[in-house]
Amino acid sequence: MLNEVLATELVCVLRYMRHYYVADGTDGEMIKGKFLEYANEERDHSDRVARRIVQLGGEPDLNPDILSKRSHTDYVEGNSLVEMLKEDLVAERIAVASYQEIIAWLEHGDPTTRRVMEGLLADEEEHADDLRSLLANFGGEDTAN
Ligand SMILES: [Fe+2]
Ligand SMILES: [Fe+2]
Repeated sequence: MLNEVLATELVCVLRYMRHYYVADGTDGEMIKGKFLEYANEERDHSDRVARRIVQLGGEPDLNPDILSKRSHTDYVEGNSLVEMLKEDLVAERIAVASYQEIIAWLEHGDPTTRRVMEGLLADEEEHADDLRSLLANFGGEDTAN
């Protein structure tokens, strides 16, 4: 289960890095700092999850051939800034939903893992919230529901 979370986080790192590199134009320049910030936060999430896997005696699976198949979210490049924001919002909402599910499942289980997941969930909710307002500011319609 944690290796699925790890894969999800790493796919999110890559998607945000891609969006950071390609965002251009006036709007893109304004927003790319956000993409970089999210990429760094997802990278920090992947770190927390990988450490927890090791603490539990498991092995973090970083095999790139496996990551995209195991991830809860998709790697979507997006052809415009609005498309990128939409895809990011979709991905964040998927992460929020699946982390909520995992936390509920862990209710009577391992409290440390649950706390790790609660930390991730709080950040993903913030990302989704930010993205929703960014999307609105840049004229995109929120169709990601
Ligand atoms: Fe994350
Ligand atoms: Fe996120």
